[in-house]
Amino acid sequence: MHMELTLLLLVLLLASAFSFLSAGAAASAVPPPPRRLLFTSMFAFGDSYMDTGNFVVMAAAVSFPVWNDKPPYGMTFFARPTGRASDGRLILDFLAEALGLPFLPASLLTNGSRAAQGVDFAVNGATAIDVGFFERNNLVPFKLLNNSLDVQLGWFEKLIKPSSFSAGTITGTGGIGGCFGAESLFVVGEFGVNDYNFLWTANMTEDQVRSYVPRVVDAIAMAVERLIGLGAAHIVVPGNPPTGCLPAVLTLLRSPGAADDDYDGVGCLRAVNAVAMHHNALLRAAVDRLRAAHPRARIVFADFYTPVYTILQNPARFGVVGDGEALKACCGTGGEYNWNGSAVCGMPGVAACGSPSAYVSWDGVHYTESVNRYVAMGWLYGPYADPPLLTPMPH
Ligand SMILES: *[C@@H]1O[C@H](CO)[C@@H](O)[C@H](O)[C@H]1NC(C)=O
Ligand SMILES: *[C@@H]1O[C@H](CO)[C@@H](O)[C@H](O)[C@H]1NC(C)=O
Ligand SMILES: *[C@@H]1O[C@H](CO)[C@@H](O)[C@H](O)[C@H]1NC(C)=O
Ligand SMILES: *[C@@H]1O[C@H](CO)[C@@H](O)[C@H](O)[C@H]1NC(C)=O
Repeated sequence: MHMELTLLLLVLLLASAFSFLSAGAAASAVPPPPRRLLFTSMFAFGDSYMDTGNFVVMAAAVSFPVWNDKPPYGMTFFARPTGRASDGRLILDFLAEALGLPFLPASLLTNGSRAAQGVDFAVNGATAIDVGFFERNNLVPFKLLNNSLDVQLGWFEKLIKPSSFSAGTITGTGGIGGCFGAESLFVVGEFGVNDYNFLWTANMTEDQVRSYVPRVVDAIAMAVERLIGLGAAHIVVPGNPPTGCLPAVLTLLRSPGAADDDYDGVGCLRAVNAVAMHHNALLRAAVDRLRAAHPRARIVFADFYTPVYTILQNPARFGVVGDGEALKACCGTGGEYNWNGSAVCGMPGVAACGSPSAYVSWDGVHYTESVNRYVAMGWLYGPYADPPLLTPMPH
């Protein structure tokens, strides 16, 4: 396949991310929501791992192809596609359920009127670095949606102003006033997966991709500062998942002369995971600096890498298919990782596996609902967040 085509397809895929995982994998009993609301509202920023519908709105406005608005997306939980890149709920949905909040509406679908208990600003394909950087340097062969972290923060700032709110194609009255404040929870990320994937698919070496990590981490840290400046006091900062284990990345970055040594014991691409881990280490350090600078804010580092990698290392324990199958997508049309950029999930004739919860990857890029649940529970109750969002429940 031509590189430009594969790159375009990867981006489309990133831009139409979704995943789902159901009761099977890692289904520990979910404690009931707390009786008293811990947070009055929740606001989220990020990419397809967090998008509850913004991409579908943005893409429609410029006729950008969308696949995650079609079946079988949403088959496990919503029973219809919702614009989420999964077979069911996202991490954010599980956080909302556990905190007693409604599922976050996509900001571009609300016009501010349904924003009282929070809004989701995340968009598929979003980067931490401004999209203009990738376009100016010819790192992508097409025009990106203008949906980077900075743009998402701009939407939030408009929303909390009592003046008129306008974002994308939707306009209306804003001003959520008292609903946003020190009792709100902010989820800033994940960011970075798309930045690094653009660089990898532009054929950069590991050292070259690695050199951008400080810039990505700085953008995330500056966003957290900006939110604290606006009054945010509870902020979750998720790191990157093991992107070197994604079926699409494994397929696109497979080099003809690949050596066994390019892959780790699980079968993931070492170099891609090494950059993700480097990102996570620098992001953790940035979170430590932010805590020192803002002792009144509660800043949680949320580990997205370890829970996903743990499932891949122990598929049987999580009810996931084994024998090398764990790296395959549930929804796809074949190939070593059941991912083919010419026939991705959501396209006509591309079917899902019978049991999404037996898979880690839903569509080659995004996780199944059961993985999302496992990650979310680890952020809420531990051990995958520092500190966990809620205290561990007694057994
Ligand atoms: C936008 O909000 C106003 C009032 O807040 C409401 O009357 C109107 O129906 C909303 N429009 C859409 C498209 O949701
Ligand atoms: C993206 O939107 C922001 C805010 O509206 C604007 O300042 C910026 O120039 C836009 N970038 C591109 C590449 O269109
Ligand atoms: C990346 O490398 C592959 C294989 O060498 C080549 O076919 C492709 O054109 C390159 N892509 C870019 C964007 O330079
Ligand atoms: C990928 O899908 C296309 C379109 O269905 C098909 O023509 C092609 O053979 C597939 N490639 C692989 C490697 O299976």
